Amino acid sequence: MTGTTQPGLPRRHIRRAVVTGSAGFIGSHLARALLEQGTTVIGVDRRDENSDQSAAANLAPLIGQPGFVPVTADLLTCALEPVLLDADVVFHLAGMPGVRPSWGPQFSTYVQCNILATQRVMDAATRLGVPRVVVASSSSVYGLTKAGASLETDHLHPASPYAVTKLAEEQLCLAHAARPDCHTTVLALRYFTVYGPRQRADMFIHRALYAAFSGTPLRVYGDGNQRRDFTYIDDAVSATLAAATASDDTGVVNVGGGTNASLAEVIQLAEQLTGRTVSVEYFTTRNGDVPVTRADSSRALTHLDWKPRVDLAAGMGAQLQHIARRTARQAA
Ligand code: NAD
Ligand code: UGA
Repeated sequence: MTGTTQPGLPRRHIRRAVVTGSAGFIGSHLARALLEQGTTVIGVDRRDENSDQSAAANLAPLIGQPGFVPVTADLLTCALEPVLLDADVVFHLAGMPGVRPSWGPQFSTYVQCNILATQRVMDAATRLGVPRVVVASSSSVYGLTKAGASLETDHLHPASPYAVTKLAEEQLCLAHAARPDCHTTVLALRYFTVYGPRQRADMFIHRALYAAFSGTPLRVYGDGNQRRDFTYIDDAVSATLAAATASDDTGVVNVGGGTNASLAEVIQLAEQLTGRTVSVEYFTTRNGDVPVTRADSSRALTHLDWKPRVDLAAGMGAQLQHIARRTARQAA
C-alpha cells in the first residue's frame, strides 16, 4: 500500500453505498452510521425481519429510515448489477462467520458465502466500475502467531476452515483489483473479534455478559487463558467508514481494538459490571481456536487515520445495558 489519508481533512461524502450483510451484527451498525451521515444505503441480506429474530433486532433501527433500501436476496443467486449500479462504494460484509462450526458439513456454506458469493460481488462491482470495495476479512487469517502483534505483511497460517475461506475471500478481492482492466480499488479489513450491542449470540463476550446477567452457566473452551484483541463495534464501524474514503489504494489493514484481554479477564469484568458471580464450566479446546490474536495497528493509523477509542470495560458496559434493555422488553 502506498497512499495515506491526511489527518484532519474532512472525509469525502459517500452519496450511495451498498452494504451486504446489512441484517447482520456489523453490517447493521455500519448501515446505521451511513444513514446518519446522509448516505443512501442499499442493504442486501438473505435474512430479513420475518426470517429470524436476530435479523429483526439488527434491522429494527434501519427499517423505515429515509435513505434505507432493504433488499432481501442471496448474493449467490440474485441479479447483482441492479443492486450495485451507481454505488460509490460496496461494503461487502455478508458472509458466514464463526471459527468453530466451520469444520464438518457446514464447510460448503462457508465456501458458498465467503468465496463464491464474493466472486459474484467482485465480478459485478468491477464490471460496473464501482470505485471502491471494502471487504470484511478476519484476524483468523493469521492463525497461530509468534509472540507480538500481527502485521499485515506477516506469513499467514490460517488454522480453521473458516479462516481459509476468509483468506481466499480477501485475496480474491485483491486479485480482481490487480487486474489491469480493473478500476475498482479494494480495502480488506482484518477485523479482530468485534463486540458491542447486538453482538452475535455465539460469541464469547455476549455469552459471558448474558451468563452474568441471567445466572446461567458459561461454557469456556480450554483454560480461559486465550487472548483476543477485542474491538468495539463503533470503532470497527469508524475504521470501515474511513476505508471507504481513504486515498486511492488497495491492500489489507488490521482493525484491532487495542485492548488485549484473556477470557478470564472478560469474565472478571462481566462479574464487576453486574455484581454477580459467573458459574463457569470448562470444556476441551475447540479445533481451530488460536491461543492469541493481537493486532499491530500502525497501518490503520497511517492509511486510515484511525485508532480504536473504546476500551473493554466501557464497551462491555454498553453491551450489558443493551442486553438488560432487550431482556426487559422481552419480559414486557
Ligand atoms: P453476521 O452473521 O451477524 O452477519 C453476516 C450477514 O451476512 C448475515 O446477516 C447473513 O444473513 C448475511 N449473509 C451471509 N451469506 C449471505 C449471502 N450468500 N447472501 C446474502 N447475505 C448473506 O456476522 P458479523 O459478525 O456481522 O460479521 C460480518 C462479517 O465480518 C463477516 O464476513 C465475518 O466473517 C466478518 N468478521 C466478523 C468478525 C466479528 O468479530 N464479528 C471478525 C472478523 C471478521
Ligand atoms: C470471532 C468471530 O466469531 C469470527 O467470525 C471472526 O472472524 C473472528 O472473531 C476474528 O477476529 O477474525 P473468535 O475470536 O473465535 O471469532 O471469537 P469468539 O467466538 O467470541 O470466541 C473467543 C474465544 O472464546 C474463543 O477462544 C472461543 O473458543 C471462546 N468461547 C467462545 C468460549 O470459550 N465459549 C463460548 O461459548 C464461546
